[in-house]
Amino acid sequence: LAIEGSGFTSKTRDEVRYFEHALFVIDEHGVIQSVLEPGDECYQSEKAQAQANGTYQSIADGSYLLPGFIDLHVHAPQWAQDGTGLDEPLEVWLGKYTFPTESKFADESFAHTVYEDLVTRMLSTGTTTASYYATVHRNGSLVLAQGAERLGQRALVGKVVMDDPEANPEYYRDASAQAAIEETERFINEVAKLNEHSVQGVYPVITPRFIPSCTDEALRGLGELAERYKTYAYIQTHCSESDWEHGYAYERYGRSDTHMLREFGLFTDRSILAHSVYPSEEDMRVFAETGAIAVHCPLSNAFFAGAVAPIRRYLAAGMHVALGSDISGGYNPDLYGAIRQAMISSRMLETGVNRDLAAQERGVEGSALTLSNAFYLATAGGGESLGLPIGRLEAGYAWDAQVVDTRHPGARLPIFEPNEPASDIFQKIMNLAVPENVRTVWVQGRKVVNKENGAR
Ligand code: GUN
Ligand code: FE
Repeated sequence: LAIEGSGFTSKTRDEVRYFEHALFVIDEHGVIQSVLEPGDECYQSEKAQAQANGTYQSIADGSYLLPGFIDLHVHAPQWAQDGTGLDEPLEVWLGKYTFPTESKFADESFAHTVYEDLVTRMLSTGTTTASYYATVHRNGSLVLAQGAERLGQRALVGKVVMDDPEANPEYYRDASAQAAIEETERFINEVAKLNEHSVQGVYPVITPRFIPSCTDEALRGLGELAERYKTYAYIQTHCSESDWEHGYAYERYGRSDTHMLREFGLFTDRSILAHSVYPSEEDMRVFAETGAIAVHCPLSNAFFAGAVAPIRRYLAAGMHVALGSDISGGYNPDLYGAIRQAMISSRMLETGVNRDLAAQERGVEGSALTLSNAFYLATAGGGESLGLPIGRLEAGYAWDAQVVDTRHPGARLPIFEPNEPASDIFQKIMNLAVPENVRTVWVQGRKVVNKENGAR
């Protein structure tokens, strides 16, 4: 496969690279073998060769290539309740909305319907990799992994563990700590088997919902599984999400949840920690030392945390940071929304809510993320965090890409001049693109969305 086109990819956290009529040569494993610029020696010969054997494809003028987005925090079953309940605090929302919804996923046919719709929709807005929480049901969780595998999305999937009978409703919880650990281990092996014949990768994730829903016995057992399966299983949980949750860990253990998750063996370079809004300096050091990932979920944080995670501080401390939608704690299922919210929220932190109040009410200088920073978090940052060669349109990376057509009739992009600077076009796409603008999506070299054919 050889694809010629113009577009954007993250160069560093602070810089976006624009390429013009670059030729991406993609091998049979869906990996970018080389990126040739029009001035390069073999550009013409490679192009001619691809044209001759019918593998050449060119992206039209006015359309731009971007790396596929990486969404590292999604509650897939909550797609069924997306957009509801957000005026409640987290601990009320869980009992009133979320647990009743998730309990319905004991029905595998319902699970199939919801999961297919979500994965399809996420792919169609350019999300090529996602880390999912399913539900406590092992079979339903497997339906999600199978759906992502078949539809072509690179997915990390976890069977949720919530075993504490004191903390969880009788109708929705694991039968016991022992059962939760055994079901998780079975799930890890089932997904590993599925991964053997997947093109793009489907990975099992050890998923204690969060400390308040698990017993120490379950947390310890899951930590042991994390050690045993550390070559291919990931770990995910919620960390320092809200005052309530953060305070809960201190009350139960006298320590932060970050500290305790590490004690349980759940804080490694394969740990995906959603939210992480309130880390202490010491907690931040634990992140940086272990290589664990803080997943920024800015929209959800506005609702449940009522706070803004200081992402620039995290980056300066050497922490891995990625972006998440947190469906349905955040209702926006595409990462364009998360990029925009990350920009907005960081500015609220920078300026403070009310400049006329006392000094401590003012903002935190140096907090504002640039658009390049936010784009990095949604692409290369996610890839680096996971330790996978994804998130960049560069040689050696998977061909996970999306085409944004700025001239599509559904577009609302004010581009009027023929020679508009690329940096302006990039900003307009990031801030204004709508789902219809994303026309084609590939994962690992495989075309998974092609709206030009009316396929999806
Ligand atoms: N904490 C525990 N469970 C959840 C959940 O489903 N969503 C969010 N946002 N936070 C949680
Ligand atoms: Fe969440």
